[in-house]
Amino acid sequence: MSIRILVIHGPNLNLLGSREPEVYGRLTLIDINNHLSEQAEAALASVQCLQSNHEGVLIDAIHDAQDWADGILINPGAFTHYSYALRDAIAAVNLPTVEVHLSNIHAREAFRQKSVIAAVCVGQISGFGWRSYTLGLQALLAKIEEKRA
Ligand code: DQA
Repeated sequence: MSIRILVIHGPNLNLLGSREPEVYGRLTLIDINNHLSEQAEAALASVQCLQSNHEGVLIDAIHDAQDWADGILINPGAFTHYSYALRDAIAAVNLPTVEVHLSNIHAREAFRQKSVIAAVCVGQISGFGWRSYTLGLQALLAKIEEKRA
C-alpha cells in the first residue's frame, strides 16, 4: 500500500512568503505544499497538508492520523519550544515523525534553541529553508520503507 504522510504546519506559517522573508524565505505555504505533493507523487506516496494557528486543532489532527497515516512531517512553529501537549500527542500515536524548521533554530535566540518535540521524533532537520521540508519528507519516507522491508 502506498505511503501516506500528514504534513503539519504550526502557527504563523500561513504567512510564509511575506513573514520575515530574510529568515523564512519567499516561498508561500502553497508553494511548499506543492513541492511536497510532487515529491510524494514521484515516490508513489501522498501527503495531506494542514496548517493551523491553534494547538488543539494540531493535536486533533495528530490523533486522527492514527487511523490513516504512516508518518508525520511537522513544523510546529513556536509550539516547538514549549508545547508539551503537542509532544505528548506525537508520543501517543506512535507514528514516525520528523520535525523540520526553515531556519536554523540552534543559531537563533536562546528560547528557540530548545525543542520539546525533538525527543519524540525520529529526527530533526533545521536551517535549509523550504528544503528542510523536502529533506524531511525524503528521510521520513526512507524510514517508513525501511520498516516495511
Ligand atoms: C520555525 C522556527 C520557530 O522558532 C518559529 O517560531 C517559527 C518557524 C522555523 O521553521 O524556522 O514559527 O519553526
